[in-house]
Amino acid sequence: MKANVLVRNAWYAAGPSEAFPLGALHGQVVAEKPLVLWRAGDGRMVGFDDRCCHKRMPVSAGRFLEPDLLECAYHGLCYDATGACVRVPSHPDGRIPPQARLRPVPLVEQDGLVWVWPGDPAKAAGARPPRVPEFSDPGWERADVGGAMAVPANALLLIENLLDITHFYPLHDGNIGDLENSRIPITVEEGVRDGTPFVGTVREVRDYRQPPYLAEYFGYDVVDRHHTHFMLNPGLTRVQMRVWPAGRQGDPAVERGYVIIHTHTPVDRRNHVWHLMVAMPKGQMCRSDPAKKAITAFVESFPKVIAEDRWALERQQRMFDYPDDGYVEVFLRPDTALRRARLILNRMERAETNPDTRDAAE
Ligand code: FES
Ligand SMILES: [Fe+2]
Repeated sequence: MKANVLVRNAWYAAGPSEAFPLGALHGQVVAEKPLVLWRAGDGRMVGFDDRCCHKRMPVSAGRFLEPDLLECAYHGLCYDATGACVRVPSHPDGRIPPQARLRPVPLVEQDGLVWVWPGDPAKAAGARPPRVPEFSDPGWERADVGGAMAVPANALLLIENLLDITHFYPLHDGNIGDLENSRIPITVEEGVRDGTPFVGTVREVRDYRQPPYLAEYFGYDVVDRHHTHFMLNPGLTRVQMRVWPAGRQGDPAVERGYVIIHTHTPVDRRNHVWHLMVAMPKGQMCRSDPAKKAITAFVESFPKVIAEDRWALERQQRMFDYPDDGYVEVFLRPDTALRRARLILNRMERAETNPDTRDAAE
């Protein structure tokens, strides 16, 4: 079961909807597939293989001559929002070769995120991108932390990091570090949703003394808590924390919490783009400053946490450059979910190259 995994037949987030304003050209490599994306004049997102059909020039390096008339920067072939070539400047007779077009990539925009499918287009209809209902719920608000972050590490290393809170101490010692957190019993859940396997952990705890940063967000010292971390597909991990004052679990009147959405979009086997977005119910204010939103405090404090995780991921990735030479990775009890996640991605990758392969290498 390898860590150096790359799944192509999956939905990956290219970014939040607001990253794609009208008139902007967006080039991005997703799972080794170069893509060009833009918002067409009618508001729909469109996406294509970024390679100009003439000489592979990335059309994302071109420009719009007018809305939905994209000119390649090299010899000036022009494409419309269906990807069809509609102009060949070097053909004075106006003739356009019938095969001259950009190849479309399956694309979905939902819950304020733009999703692309870099793999076999024929397989895209069998799965749906995971939903993020809080992003389209008017009772919630969303904030981005750090924007699109290029991380020089395989995306699986981030997924494993997110499914493992035992690293809060020592990696995040001094901010979200909380050794008690690591000792809460874990239940692992897995299944298939929207055509894609998922796996994650559930941590339930009663009479839990919150660390100071959570008491600041939620306003309670001692809580009953429901805390989940789920890889919902290869491109998204969802973290949800729900807390109630001790003894009041399930009472919506006093519930507080957040949802953290991590999108991890592979570029190739050693790079990915990480995007962290947080959502909280509107009106959740800081304990120390009731005029300040808890989500604002979260956005201010989390860049340091992210920097610590990136510090670790980059160093882990570099260790893959050396021959194993007898190295054996040890899985601990809390690693159950991340081991299952690795298994899921390995199976998905193998199914792309050899659909008949069973679990022989596991
Ligand atoms: S490579 Fe695009 S027009 Fe020639
Ligand atoms: Fe972390």
